Amino acid sequence: MTAMDLRAGTAVITGASSGIGLACAEHLARAGLNVVLGARRADLLDAAVSRIRSTGGGAEAIVMDVTREEDVARLVNRAREAFGALDVMICNAGFGYYGGVEETPTEVMRRMMDVNFMGTYYGARVALPMFRAQQHGHLIFVSSIVGQRGIAQMSGYSATKAAQVGFAESLRTEFLGTGIHVSVVYPVSTETGFRDAMTRDYGHAVAGLGPKQSPDDVARAIVACIRRPRPEVYPHRMSKVLAVVNAMAPALADRLVRKYGRRRSGTV
Ligand SMILES: NC(=O)c1ccc[n+]([C@@H]2O[C@H](COP(=O)([O-])OP(=O)(O)OC[C@H]3O[C@@H](n4cnc5c(N)ncnc54)[C@H](OP(=O)(O)O)[C@@H]3O)[C@@H](O)[C@H]2O)c1
Repeated sequence: MTAMDLRAGTAVITGASSGIGLACAEHLARAGLNVVLGARRADLLDAAVSRIRSTGGGAEAIVMDVTREEDVARLVNRAREAFGALDVMICNAGFGYYGGVEETPTEVMRRMMDVNFMGTYYGARVALPMFRAQQHGHLIFVSSIVGQRGIAQMSGYSATKAAQVGFAESLRTEFLGTGIHVSVVYPVSTETGFRDAMTRDYGHAVAGLGPKQSPDDVARAIVACIRRPRPEVYPHRMSKVLAVVNAMAPALADRLVRKYGRRRSGTV
């Protein structure tokens, strides 16, 4: 795999109004890429674009919902119109839900699959024709460590994150040896708007007991992966051990994730 020169490239990022997506936009702009941000909250997107432009970066944003393929296509077209290219597509938008299967309303599960997986699927579908035409491009899916190893009370969320992994592995095999790269990112618990969104939309207060990292840590790992593409990114290095333990000793992994998985915290 060859290293990419980030200057003058263009990256599209879904879910870029907060958390990991926003940190990616800021780090990538600092590294010299033009960035095109997509999410639903216009005020947060506008503020991010102003900040990036004020430091000399190239940034655009559109209000969009990743569950609508036409919105994802508009986002990618914005990159083409504004900057004439698309080099990196980061499918990052997502949300979680805490609760057992019987407590998870089917419509919430369907929405979670639509945002977390179908949003990723649409991102690949609209980016790949451009990548094929120019014979290069990098798809990056922000999954989660729970996509490698499911945790208790987040079975639906874990399934959506595992779906991204299976999709990425197939695509990576299809494009092996070409200039098109596909990478999956596996963050551990990260201090973002993720828990606030669960509280806002579903009334959960949830805390993680395991290792934590900042959105900047995740963004730095993603920038490094764009510079030098690799199949998998574990921004918290030790978390890869969990994937290995799960493959070799799944019963031990059951006990570990039960001990360190997320918990409901306080009352909301
Ligand atoms: N935080 C963690 O502990 C953690 C750990 C592992 C993996 N992850 C993954 O990291 C990714 C980013 O999450 P985060 O932690 O940065 O949480 P976050 O701060 O809540 O960010 C989620 C982003 O997704 C956007 N979004 C949600 N639904 C959308 C939709 N239908 N259409 C377009 N954008 C949408 C949100 O923007 P709007 O509300 O403005 O649309 C927001 O910008 C997610 O895929 C999550 O599963 C998070």
